[in-house]
Amino acid sequence: MFELKWLWQNLKGDRARYILALSLSVVGSSLTIVNPYIGQRIVDTFIAGDNAMQNLTDERGLLIMLCLGMIGFSLLRTGLAYLTTMQYERSSQNMLYRIRIYLYNKIQGQDMQYYDHNRTGDLMTKMTGDLDMVRHSMAWIIKMIIESLTIFIAAVIYFFTIDAELTLWLLILSPPIFIVAYIFAKRVRPMYIDLRERLSQLNTTTQENIAGNRVIKAFAREEYEIEKFADKNINYSKANKKAALVWLDYFPFLESFAQGFNVILMLAGGLFVMNGRITFGEYAAFSSLIWAVSNPMRNIGIIINDIQRFFASLSKIVDIYYAKPYIVNEHNPVEKRRFEGRIEFDHVSFKYDNGKVLDDISFKIESGETIAIMGSTGSGKTSLINLIPRFYDVSEGRVLVDGIDVRKLELDELRGNIGIATQDVLLFSDTIDGNIAFGDPDLPEEDTIEYARLAAAHDFIIKMPEGYDTIVGERGVGLSGGQKQRIALARALAVHRPILILDDTTSAVDLETEEHIQKSLRELDYPCTKIIIAQRVSTTAEADRILILDNGRLIEEGTHAELLAKRGYYYDVFMLQNEGIGRKVTTHGKE
Ligand code: CTP
Ligand code: MG
Repeated sequence: MFELKWLWQNLKGDRARYILALSLSVVGSSLTIVNPYIGQRIVDTFIAGDNAMQNLTDERGLLIMLCLGMIGFSLLRTGLAYLTTMQYERSSQNMLYRIRIYLYNKIQGQDMQYYDHNRTGDLMTKMTGDLDMVRHSMAWIIKMIIESLTIFIAAVIYFFTIDAELTLWLLILSPPIFIVAYIFAKRVRPMYIDLRERLSQLNTTTQENIAGNRVIKAFAREEYEIEKFADKNINYSKANKKAALVWLDYFPFLESFAQGFNVILMLAGGLFVMNGRITFGEYAAFSSLIWAVSNPMRNIGIIINDIQRFFASLSKIVDIYYAKPYIVNEHNPVEKRRFEGRIEFDHVSFKYDNGKVLDDISFKIESGETIAIMGSTGSGKTSLINLIPRFYDVSEGRVLVDGIDVRKLELDELRGNIGIATQDVLLFSDTIDGNIAFGDPDLPEEDTIEYARLAAAHDFIIKMPEGYDTIVGERGVGLSGGQKQRIALARALAVHRPILILDDTTSAVDLETEEHIQKSLRELDYPCTKIIIAQRVSTTAEADRILILDNGRLIEEGTHAELLAKRGYYYDVFMLQNEGIGRKVTTHGKE
């Protein structure tokens, strides 16, 4: 019921419209009994009554009125149905629109940890299929329930006014129907929750296969992936069938009960007419409205199925709605300062769910310094720099920027002071120009070109079909790994931030290009503290200081010369890269 309350809250702005829709549903379906009532009058007065022939000649006017009344009410009901549907559609679409914006913002506002734990395919299912299911339920299923219920109640009341005993005879069938329906609902509920989960798995597989298509092709794993997909597809299809077929177990009972209404009416009603307890017209009214009582019973299965789907989807959406990121922007209006770019790690430890990756790390970087970080793969370099813009929070210790704990800074302000080129380069489906100016859409064209030059990207960009207007990314021209890295570097430089973090940004470019980039970095036209993760000694050699990470610990720190003199890890790497193949490296430089 909490979920319904949630829906009600989100109807804000359209509540009046939705209530109007519900009321129109009630009014419109109550009118269903008018025509059978008129029919009853016609039968009793003009067809089967004692003075039928007499009345037919004397009261022709009444007959015409009654017939016109029937037509009029039919038209009125059609008009009302039109209006009602419009109100349901409008209010539910408006609600959907608002929830979608809210959810989208919510997902955008989540921290990295959330993305570590939530599959893209699942989030996509929630944003599309689940949301649509909820809207469909608000507009159609609730409408169907309300209308069936109203017609049922109106018919029963009308029946009571005609003959209470006959009505009770008919209603004798209701309790067993409700019991069967209840058992069915209980059995089918977990199936729909399961079904929803399988749909999400199917979507996740589809999304991963499309995104990872190149890898799949590279490893010639198409067949395996197709099988994997087929597996999920079969799973989903099976679950769907299973849920749908459960209904068949109960269907014969419900259908028989529904048919039972007609039988009882014929037997008991027939007897009552013969005994003169009810008139022919009244029998006709019962007969023409008996569907209003039996149909809801017949549809109860479909309604229950839909309600279960509705709740399965609704609870998934509510999950996103109330998911709270650990790392949040308070959005306190602060005057955005430009930092000096001092960074300090003070006894920092950090762990993901499955274990420690950084262990008691302390170092300081002064404003304007260039620091290189080196270390074997998986040693924690990316994890370390992720703590500076607060993509994650430390487990122990503090990370300080300009002497302030990053957890005390506004995220906007903090991140607004950091330019970063991440290790996994992602370019948007946009022009090259748009990608470089991503962080600053007002960047003048000559600046875009200037930063592309600094990142050694200008030369290859102008050779592209439409130069800076060439669309790249998923639906555009393909770029090489090194080209992507250089555009990402230009994008990071173009925001002019006092802290610049480059995570393995030159790993895919040749040595000559790398040298050009290094020169650019040295000559940047704005003051900037640089943290450069790199594997090549040629990159690290010119840094003011080099930090060596090993297995989450800071094992060496110093200038190129100091570290060489130390003959540790750095020295080994240096020797390996300079003397080339043939030299065996041990952990501490001893052969
Ligand atoms: N890790 C994790 N969860 C993540 C990211 C990383 O558990 N979301 C773990 C990895 O398994 C790894 C360790 O954290 O053992 C350090 O990862 P990372 O900081 O990415 O290592 P790097 O030094 O950046 O490695 P590389 O040179 O390969 O980029
Ligand atoms: Mg890394």
